This record gives sequence, C-alpha cells and structure tokens, in this order.
Amino acid sequence: MQALTYHGAHDVRVDNVPDPQLVQDDDILLRVTATAICGSDLHLYRGKVPSLKHGDILGHEFMGVVEDVGVGVDKLRKGDRVVVPFTIACGQCFFCEQSSFSACERTNPGEGLTVNKKSLRPGAGLFGFGHANGGYSGGQAEFVRVPRANVGPLKVPDVLGDEEVLFLSDILPTGYQAVLNAQVGPGSVVVIFGAGPVGCMAVACAKMLGAERIFVVDHHDYRLAHVREIYGAEVINFDECDDPAAEIVQRTDYRGADASIDCVGFEAHGSKLETTMAALKLEVASGIVIRQAIAATRRTGIISIPGVYAGFIHGFLIGDLFDKGLSIRTGQTHVQKHMPTLLRHIESGALTPHTVISHRQPLSEAAAAYAVFDKREDECRKVVLKPGM
Ligand SMILES: NC(=O)c1ccc[n+]([C@@H]2O[C@H](COP(=O)([O-])OP(=O)(O)OC[C@H]3O[C@@H](n4cnc5c(N)ncnc54)[C@H](O)[C@@H]3O)[C@@H](O)[C@H]2O)c1
Ligand SMILES: [Zn+2]
Ligand SMILES: [Zn+2]
Repeated sequence: MQALTYHGAHDVRVDNVPDPQLVQDDDILLRVTATAICGSDLHLYRGKVPSLKHGDILGHEFMGVVEDVGVGVDKLRKGDRVVVPFTIACGQCFFCEQSSFSACERTNPGEGLTVNKKSLRPGAGLFGFGHANGGYSGGQAEFVRVPRANVGPLKVPDVLGDEEVLFLSDILPTGYQAVLNAQVGPGSVVVIFGAGPVGCMAVACAKMLGAERIFVVDHHDYRLAHVREIYGAEVINFDECDDPAAEIVQRTDYRGADASIDCVGFEAHGSKLETTMAALKLEVASGIVIRQAIAATRRTGIISIPGVYAGFIHGFLIGDLFDKGLSIRTGQTHVQKHMPTLLRHIESGALTPHTVISHRQPLSEAAAAYAVFDKREDECRKVVLKPGM
C-alpha cells in the first residue's frame, strides 16, 4: 500500500510499504478514506520530536471503512464507517475509567515524553507519533491497523460526508477541550493565541458556548481574516502590534481576559532570544505565548494550553502566575470523551469544522502538501489527503 513515511527533518515521502495486519484480538484494519495533516505533524516534520525512525508512517487524524475485525471486536463490523481518535486507550485503566483517555496507562509500550519521570508509566499511545509514544503506524496511508477498537473508533452517520466528521479525530475535540478547560461560557472574554486549525476550532467552540468577546492573535493575515469573517473574532497581528497582551489588557478596561488559550505550542514565533537559544539547544521551547497569556489574563483567570510543549522554558513568569492567582490546564486531548457530544453538534449544524479546510490532495501528493502547510504557502490552513482521489 501507499503511505506517508518519515525519513528525517523535512524529508517525508509517499512510499510503497507492506499492508498492515491484525495483531491483537481487539484490532481492526481500516481502509482510510480521508486523513489530514495536523500542526502536531509539523513538529515531527521539522525533526523536533525524538524517537522517530526512518520509514515510520505518520498521521493521526484519519477515518475510513472497517476492512477486517479481530475476534475480540464486538462494537464494529466490516463495512462500518468510523472516525478514529488519535489517542489509543484501553477503556479500563484508572485514567480511562475517569474518561482521561490520553492518560491511559496501558497502551504505550514506549517511554513517553515526561522528562523528570521517575518510574511513572507513560501516557496513552498515539498514532504516528514516534516510538516514545508507542511506535504505532499512522493513518496517512491507504490502510491502518487500529488497536483497542472497542474503545476508540466512532461510527458516523452516512448523511455526513468525510470532511464534515474527519476532525472529530483530533482538532475539534482539542479546540473543545481547550475551551472547556478555560471555563468559557456565556459572556466570557477569551484570548486565543494561534489561528491555525486548532485555534480555529477553539474559536468555533468558544462562540458556540456563548463567549462574548474572542480575541485571536497570529501573524498570518489570511488566517486572522478567516476567524474574523466566520466567527466575528477581534484579531491582532503580532507583526504589527509589539505586545498583543498589552493591547488586550487595554481593550478590556485594564482588567484582562477571563481566559487565554495557547493554540501555538513550543515552536511559537516572536522571541529572537528563545529562537536562538533553541537552535543552540539551550532552550527546548519558546515561552513567548505563555508569557503573553499570563499577561493578557485577568486576576484569578485561566490559561488553557492545548498547544504542544516539550522540555523546559527559562523565561516562565511563575511570580506573575501566583500574584494574579491564575490556573493552568494542559495536555493531550481526551478525544474519546468528547467525540459523541461533538458529533451531535455537527449533526445539528452548531459546528461546521470542515470550513477550516483549504487544501484537498490525493495521498500520493502528501509530501508536497506537508511542505505547503509547513511554509503556510498558498494561504494554507488545513490539508485533507484522500487515498485514491
Ligand atoms: N493537545 C492536543 O491534544 C493537541 C492536538 C492537536 C494539536 N495540538 C497542538 O496545537 C498546536 C496548534 O496546532 P495547529 O494545527 O493549529 O498548528 P499550526 O502550526 O497550523 O498553527 C499554529 C499557529 O500559531 C501561530 N503562531 C506562531 N507563533 C505565535 C505567537 N507568538 N502568537 C500567536 N500565534 C502564533 C502560527 O502563525 C500558526 O498560525 C500545535 O502545537 C499542535 O501540536 C495539540
Ligand atoms: Zn494532531
Ligand atoms: Zn486505559
């Protein structure tokens, strides 16, 4: 079969690889009908995530049709059409029992990415995310093996097209969980850093939950224009405004926003010092968005961080966090927990996540599509890849 494989930083290729096989009793084999490139894939593409090997198949946002089922699968049958969450969860451990699926203790045979880990078990295995995250082959492929199939894949109604439901696999639940973590509700004033796909989903969910004002910070005008036009967000381009947090404090009558949501993560732009330190490996992550979020949020407010972080940041203003009495919520999304609710919101028309799509490509063109998304060429917001298109 064809699959998008990793061969080093900025080197991904569509290769012919062996078809996957059923391994465990509760596996399914899925024929992929649609898959997407995530901002998280860009961290891998840029060589920033350890534990990838040559030939690893990437991709953790995908859906398709069940081609074969293991003998232990009782929730699905051949021919079912499903969306698959990027987090692989057992459904039975301490964390799964509290619906904290991305913390599942039983699906990651790798080391995980916690630095000061002691002998702690790692969090859930993830599709297409390197061997520290379990080494599972991803779904940017014609076929994929889906383990723990009684817990993850969600059947979707035929009246909804692939593009309408595909983002239940990751970015929609991620935006939604980020907004729930930020306790956004009717009347909220919220700042969303990053107008990428995750930022767009957070804006959509904040709007749905009744936020009164939504500020969005980015430096790509075409991305900012999208959230302004579709959701009425108040946008700030950080190339044109030195200090977006100062601007937000001013525009909120010197109080700050109720919550800030970091939909950017550790590769944030804008701090020359941190970019240089990261290049010299003296710093793992850029802290600029976290600093901006702390500064933009009102006393006793919340900072929600769906953007991925790794390692440490020197410039972390713990004192301001304390002085303002802020709370922080972070982490990989508990995708399975949110999928059924969000499917209902798609069915009712309250959410239309497919509006974020800017590019549709055959899987065979996936390598070029990565380059376009990475460089934000051609006003790229979100790429959907279709095997056999
Ligand atoms: N927690 C999870 O489970 C989860 C799931 C999916 C994605 N993510 C993470 O969410 C983040 C965003 O993903 P995406 O798909 O939207 O990626 P993306 O790379 O397309 O978007 C990131 C956006 O942030 C903007 N940005 C960069 N520096 C900024 C700054 N200083 N201030 C404001 N905006 C800035 C960029 O211009 C870009 O538009 C990534 O880190 C990704 O890994 C996390
Ligand atoms: Zn993702
Ligand atoms: Zn579990």
